[in-house]
Amino acid sequence: AAAAGRRDDLSGLHVVVSAGGTREPLDPVRFLGNRSSGKQGYALARTAVARGARVTLVAANTAGLPDPAGVDVVRVGTAVQLREAVLKAAADADAVVMAAAVADFRPAHYAEGKIKKRDGVEPEPIALVRNPDVLAELSAERARPGQVVVGFAAETDDVLANGRAKLARKGCDLLVVNEVGEHRTFGSEENEALVLGADGSETPVPHGPKEALADTVWDLVAERVR
Ligand code: CTP
Ligand code: CA
Repeated sequence: AAAAGRRDDLSGLHVVVSAGGTREPLDPVRFLGNRSSGKQGYALARTAVARGARVTLVAANTAGLPDPAGVDVVRVGTAVQLREAVLKAAADADAVVMAAAVADFRPAHYAEGKIKKRDGVEPEPIALVRNPDVLAELSAERARPGQVVVGFAAETDDVLANGRAKLARKGCDLLVVNEVGEHRTFGSEENEALVLGADGSETPVPHGPKEALADTVWDLVAERVR
């Protein structure tokens, strides 16, 4: 829940949050996906509502999370669909937070019929093509002046250096950097992060519930939105 001083501090604002993992179909029954649970994005949506914002949640695949109360939920499957829904919602948004795990690549070809195995025939490699980079596009072409754009980054190695480089490359205002591993972050109830600002700021968020990280993100957004 929002701290006492934060109640309704986002009222009058429209914020867009993307959450979950995209799924890129190979054929009618198969897809390339990822381990994102959507929990951090859903926590962002819930805390924003609690602080008075109007919230649009663009939800890709999640671990069966219930729709948060008071939120406009738009369901999407692929990265291309997510891009379309986010850009549409962002048109009048004061802030956009890209918590979704967007697939970098999709299969180059979609098989209309289920891909079958054949005796004595080796499988074909799966050719991939790049997906659009939604965060970079949002950052480069702000729908309105002063719109705050926030990205998330999951890094495994040099978290700070990779995070700074990614922030610069994407052109967003804030980048929430998580250190991930097989047993960290994905699907868990808790998170630990470092929030990097384009203005040089560094805000460490200690290990704790995803709501606490969400509240820190909204604090930093509220300071920057105009
Ligand atoms: N993102 C996006 N569109 C993509 C890929 C990523 O909008 N096609 C967004 C994610 O939602 C996230 C941020 O970009 O907010 C960073 O994602 P990440 O995968 O860490 O960055 P990439 O640029 O894809 O770099 P990497 O090669 O490390 O995966
Ligand atoms: Ca990526």
